[in-house]
Amino acid sequence: MYLCLCKGITDSDIREAGQAGIVMPCQLKAKFGLKDPGCCGRCSKNIHEFAEIAMSAQQAPSLNSLRR
Ligand code: FES
Repeated sequence: MYLCLCKGITDSDIREAGQAGIVMPCQLKAKFGLKDPGCCGRCSKNIHEFAEIAMSAQQAPSLNSLRR
C-alpha cells in the first residue's frame, strides 16, 4: 500500500526503514526525499508513526494502528 503518493513510498519501504532504526522525522524526510520540490508533505505524520510501530514491533503493523 502506498503511504506517500508524491514519492511512491510503500508500507514495505517504511517498515524496512523502521526496522533499521530510521524513525525520526528528519531521518525519514532525508531518506525518502520528502522535502524535495513537488512533495506535499501530507504523509509525514503517518510515515513517522508507521516507522515507529515497525521499529517497536519488528513486524508488520496493521493499518488500524495508524487510525487512532
Ligand atoms: S504524499 Fe508524501 S510528500 Fe506528498
